[in-house]
Amino acid sequence: MTRLFLTLLLPFALSSHPTSVSAFPSYSYRSLAGLSTQELQEVIPSLTISELKPPPGPLKDTSAILVNDELHPWKPTGKDDMRGPCPGLNTLASHGWLPRNGIASPSQIITAVQEGFNMGNDLAIFVTYAAHLVDGNLLTDLLSIGGKSLKTGPSPPAPAIVGGLNTHGVFEGDASMTRGDDFFGDNHSFNETLFDELVEFSNKFGGGFYNLTAAAEFRWHRIQSSISTNPIFSLTSPRYYTAYAESVFPLTFFVDGRRSQPRQLDIATARGFFEHNRMPHGFFRSNTSWTLGHIGGGMDVIWESHPVLPGRNNGTINSYEVDPDSADFTNFCKMYTDFVNVTVKGLYPNPKGALLKALKTNLDYFYTPIRGRCEKVPVFTDIL
Ligand code: HEM
Ligand SMILES: *[C@@H]1O[C@H](CO)[C@@H](O)[C@H](O)[C@H]1NC(C)=O
Ligand SMILES: *[C@@H]1O[C@H](CO)[C@@H](O)[C@H](O)[C@H]1NC(C)=O
Ligand SMILES: *[C@@H]1O[C@H](CO)[C@@H](O)[C@H](O)[C@H]1NC(C)=O
Ligand SMILES: *[C@@H]1O[C@H](CO)[C@@H](O)[C@H](O)[C@H]1NC(C)=O
Ligand SMILES: *[C@@H]1O[C@H](CO)[C@@H](O)[C@H](O)[C@H]1NC(C)=O
Ligand SMILES: *[C@@H]1O[C@H](CO)[C@@H](O)[C@H](O)[C@H]1NC(C)=O
Repeated sequence: MTRLFLTLLLPFALSSHPTSVSAFPSYSYRSLAGLSTQELQEVIPSLTISELKPPPGPLKDTSAILVNDELHPWKPTGKDDMRGPCPGLNTLASHGWLPRNGIASPSQIITAVQEGFNMGNDLAIFVTYAAHLVDGNLLTDLLSIGGKSLKTGPSPPAPAIVGGLNTHGVFEGDASMTRGDDFFGDNHSFNETLFDELVEFSNKFGGGFYNLTAAAEFRWHRIQSSISTNPIFSLTSPRYYTAYAESVFPLTFFVDGRRSQPRQLDIATARGFFEHNRMPHGFFRSNTSWTLGHIGGGMDVIWESHPVLPGRNNGTINSYEVDPDSADFTNFCKMYTDFVNVTVKGLYPNPKGALLKALKTNLDYFYTPIRGRCEKVPVFTDIL
């Protein structure tokens, strides 16, 4: 297991789905996965179907530039704004690099993560379309970075939770650094107790900073902690990949691009991003575009210091068993293949018409960054 290739996605447990469309009036950015043919017939006529455009290309200028600038001031989260489990996307929304309400198209997200944080084009496309395929609305081309409902009018009462990236088991998963497991209730809000542990590990292993050594020890600790407290803890592909990748992200994206040697994150800056969705005053983005391969290198180091194979508890604590069917870091393409063939196919067993067309187009875009590395999964080709 020398080479971990990166990626980010979610396990094969499916999200919870509505049984009645009328209970969920706003579908403009909510996933259509799991709706019956009849429900789809009811919902689709109310949607504005977007023409899907190919994902944006890479940045032309990849240098470190001021990104907490006067065009992108931090503002407090408005009462109807969505914020979710990802401190990166939350921060981009709170600085106006993404729409401040937290609802965006995949293209907007790719542009924002590249311009705001210098995420590499392959990584940005792969992660964004993975998230969109499971948690976004493929017809309106909109994804919510959180789960609160946007109130659109005084009545009827809007649903309290509208999925988005908060939806557990698909993109959101267990053993996050600063968010609790779904089993314990809130799976997407900043948790002070967990952040304090991140600080403790940074003090103990990083000389007061979150560095790669602290990241590796903390990743191991969060996994051990879930094994010993969460009876339904699950760490299979694709969450297995995202858990390790997200341990690297603070080092590549939250460190000022002018002062990145040694690569370490101070605690005040970390708290700004994780808790307040806020860049430091005068923050410059990274001076390098971080690709799938770069992040994979960091994941290797973290994994090798405490190797854990993908698996889950069996319904009781301390019962972690390796799942031999899950992709692990030796088989990146299996992660991609299963994501399409099992996860996406499971969410959309028999898509038709406009939805089928949108699915195929989004799967094509999702595949572009790994063309040449993995064979394309010929899913949905038999459905007309
Ligand atoms: C490109 C589109 C992106 C998508 C769709 C996305 C999505 C997500 C999701 C769903 C999670 C929650 C996973 C979990 O812990 O259960 C997450 C976590 C995380 N994301 Fe993102 N993300 C993106 C880009 C970024 C960027 C650009 C950054 C950094 C600037 C970032 C930093 C993080 C970090 C550090 C976590 C871990 C939080 C924790 O464990 O406490 N992400 N992301
Ligand atoms: C995540 O946490 C929220 C808030 O505690 C909860 O309502 C929701 O059901 C959880 N899981 C899902 C499926 O989003
Ligand atoms: C935060 O996480 C800790 C440790 O898992 C847990 O005991 C606590 O209940 C969580 N706090 C909130 C507010 O969810
Ligand atoms: C992290 O910091 C600690 C303490 O200064 C140091 O011993 C360790 O080598 C650092 N790790 C890396 C990868 O630089
Ligand atoms: C980015 O900055 C670091 C110093 O912080 C430097 O070592 C590195 O060469 C720079 N990379 C580029 C691509 O300019
Ligand atoms: C779960 O694992 C534990 C410990 O490995 C074992 O004792 C128990 O019988 C298992 N339970 C089930 C339901 O498989
Ligand atoms: C996809 O799943 C089907 C059965 O569900 C299987 O026959 C096929 O071999 C799988 N394709 C790949 C590429 O794994």
